[in-house]
Amino acid sequence: MQYAHITGWGKCVPPAKLTNDDLATFMETSDEWIKSRTGISERHISHVNTSEMASVAAAHALAAAGIDGCELDLIILASASPDTLIPNIASTVQANVGATCGAFDINAACSGFLYGLGLASSLIKSGQNKKILVIGAERLSFYLDWSRRDTAVLFGDAAGAVVLEASEQPGGVLGYELNNDPEGRDILKSQFGSQMDRFDASSLDFFIQFNGQEIFKRAINGMGSLSAKVLDKCQLDKDDVDFVIPHQANERIIDTLVSRMKIPKEKAFVNIANYGNTSAATIPIAICDALEQGLIKPQQKILSCAFGAGLTSAAAVFQW
Ligand code: ACO
Repeated sequence: MQYAHITGWGKCVPPAKLTNDDLATFMETSDEWIKSRTGISERHISHVNTSEMASVAAAHALAAAGIDGCELDLIILASASPDTLIPNIASTVQANVGATCGAFDINAACSGFLYGLGLASSLIKSGQNKKILVIGAERLSFYLDWSRRDTAVLFGDAAGAVVLEASEQPGGVLGYELNNDPEGRDILKSQFGSQMDRFDASSLDFFIQFNGQEIFKRAINGMGSLSAKVLDKCQLDKDDVDFVIPHQANERIIDTLVSRMKIPKEKAFVNIANYGNTSAATIPIAICDALEQGLIKPQQKILSCAFGAGLTSAAAVFQW
């Protein structure tokens, strides 16, 4: 029997910080409004492409796992803001880390990392692969209309990565659940793509737009129901969960989610203050930060859940 364990992790956070006070110098907003509504204090803005951040995070994850890129069997890169559609940017990471394996991108928006982690765990447990790199990377600043305070204050750029390896030691990714609700596709979108008039880029709205209150409600319901489903699948009770690593979209979403699930707030990891919403990158970055802070201990059972455009949702349980 093969198990799929996280053996390496790494992140890339661009050095340039944009604080709430910085935003207030060019749009009608305030540190008080942003912090009280979202929990965000600052976000990082990248001067390099998504694939470059992804490659740095990947190199750190490989170093932490103690393996070379050439040992990888597969690279899965989750992003809703790749630098190019063709070729996929997993191939850029592949070239940068010296891997000779399959490599592809997935777009499941903010749930993308957990989609990738789940798929990678299945490939390892089935015996198909032994070492897989899973990355979440975003440069959402490129897709923001910086004159719109309702969207621009929420997002940030960054990348995170993990290495998943086969082991006979029980544990690792115990289970996962994926879902999508196409009825809500229009609630959160950027219309960038082939539906745009190629001779008039302003014909459709290129920038990210969403109905915040609708997303707020659906995110809590979506992450809550998939979390319950994955715990059930793993035959675990909410009290068996030692630690929760939720997608970081809004601190109030996280608070309401754990309170509804009757999980103590102290068990939920929150680092949105420093990064804003980095979409597919929030969860691998949170794994890195929680480990750095000594909050994840051996044998702990960790519940992770996410929600995003699509409307996608995902939840996974892994044992450290
Ligand atoms: N600064 C100051 N005022 C603002 C700002 C801002 N940055 N943005 C909006 N406002 C104003 C609005 O214009 C409105 O003013 P009005 O009452 O005069 O009309 C007022 O603040 C309240 O606006 P609401 O939209 O009702 O504020 P709300 O409390 O719903 O918070 C927010 C908005 C933070 C976007 C919240 O709905 C939210 O977090 N939603 C979910 C997150 C989300 O949509 N993320 C997108 C990615 S999806 C994902 O990752 C899960």
